[in-house]
Amino acid sequence: MTTDKNENLMEKIVSLCKRRGFVFQGSDIYGGLAGTWDYGPYGAELSNNIKNLWWKMFVSLREDMYGVDAAIIMNPKAWEASGHVSGFSDPLVVCDKCGHRFREDQLDDKTKCPDCEGKLGAVKQFNMMFKTSVGASEDESSVTYLRPETAGGMFVNYKNIQDSIHPKIPFGMAQIGKAFRNEIAPRDFVFRSREFRQMEVEYFVKPTEWETAFEEWRQVMLEWCKEIGLDSSHVHELEVPEGDLAHYSKRTIDFEFDYPFGRKELYGLAYRTDFDLRSHSAGSGVDLSYFDEESKERYTPHVIEPSLGLDRTILAVMCDAYREEQNTEDTRVYLAFKPKIAPVKIAVFPLLKNKEALVEKAREVYKTLKKEFGAVMFDDNGNIGKRYRRQDEIGTPWCVTVDFETIEKDAGVTVRDRDTGEQKRMSVLELISHVKNELGS
Ligand code: GAP
Repeated sequence: MTTDKNENLMEKIVSLCKRRGFVFQGSDIYGGLAGTWDYGPYGAELSNNIKNLWWKMFVSLREDMYGVDAAIIMNPKAWEASGHVSGFSDPLVVCDKCGHRFREDQLDDKTKCPDCEGKLGAVKQFNMMFKTSVGASEDESSVTYLRPETAGGMFVNYKNIQDSIHPKIPFGMAQIGKAFRNEIAPRDFVFRSREFRQMEVEYFVKPTEWETAFEEWRQVMLEWCKEIGLDSSHVHELEVPEGDLAHYSKRTIDFEFDYPFGRKELYGLAYRTDFDLRSHSAGSGVDLSYFDEESKERYTPHVIEPSLGLDRTILAVMCDAYREEQNTEDTRVYLAFKPKIAPVKIAVFPLLKNKEALVEKAREVYKTLKKEFGAVMFDDNGNIGKRYRRQDEIGTPWCVTVDFETIEKDAGVTVRDRDTGEQKRMSVLELISHVKNELGS
């Protein structure tokens, strides 16, 4: 029987993430640092699997995409031109009594402090970019910023891509990397943090063709949500009202997800017009226009931007994968990850720890599978039931047991399916082909 998993779901996920090595509080032994999170072994594997899948779908399998990996620290003039120095801010209010700081647009009652009911001061615009200085001097001339979106690193390389690769419009650039925002109120675990990862595309089109490209990318994003196993009834599209659009956008669709704390933005798809290339052209003095050989026209390309947060993806897949199953003696908790993103694909056990022949054979099977799939674990701790529970909690799709029939009758191994609990006996070769099939490799 599956119980109502939504009760305290966030607390359960945060606790599982820490207990099982997915996500830890940043700088944990020093009491943490607000808005920062560290990914442990399974969190790092899950992140890599999602990044690789994204890169494959958004870059490698397409003919019109070019990946980059740009510097996080950029010339501050780039952020002046992009409008971030003057306009990338949130409304801040500070309580006169306790000094706590809040985002004014997130307060239900904007007249008094939610912590001590003290009077709130006047609203100020707080710029969210992290300032730092480059070089040995720390005066105004050395000030720069950590990038608040990966997008900037692509716009400043538009010309380099044109000059080195010579792609024809339409084409896109893609990047996965860190972004930094000094959020006034980081909250909801990795949902809103101060240091996070983005997977972004800047797709350059002829001005008259933006609507077609926007619709194509909208479909790709919906397909992506399915690919990573999100329940499509939990993903909703929101047409962002004109008054709420970012300074660079003429149209944005937010892809929202039903998180346990409410329906919130997961991804964004924006039509950035020619705002960025025009602004960087003006700021740098470098011509970023495009000459279309076919139509003999010169224009500044317009941009469609699918922007995906990796950390919000991780939280969403965790929420949708979390399952509780009530048994007679206890509750089985498992993460029903799609095998493609599961941090560990297969776990191998000897039936008994103290039977040398079983351990030896299990190690041999483990080595064969590890060579094939990489993310394979060996476990001989505790009884089989406990080993299953441990693997269930980290979402391992298949557990393989080497027993007496394996060694005495050469009868293959037993393979237990995470979601159904069903066990089947098969040869190692059959298992490899079954897993390859499920992974789509
Ligand atoms: N380049 C466009 C851009 O950065 P955005 O809506 O500000 O647009 C894009 O951010 C995505 O980055 C969001 O949809 C979300 O997935 C992620 N994101 C933004 N701020 C975040 C934060 N503080 N913590 C975690 N993820 C964040």
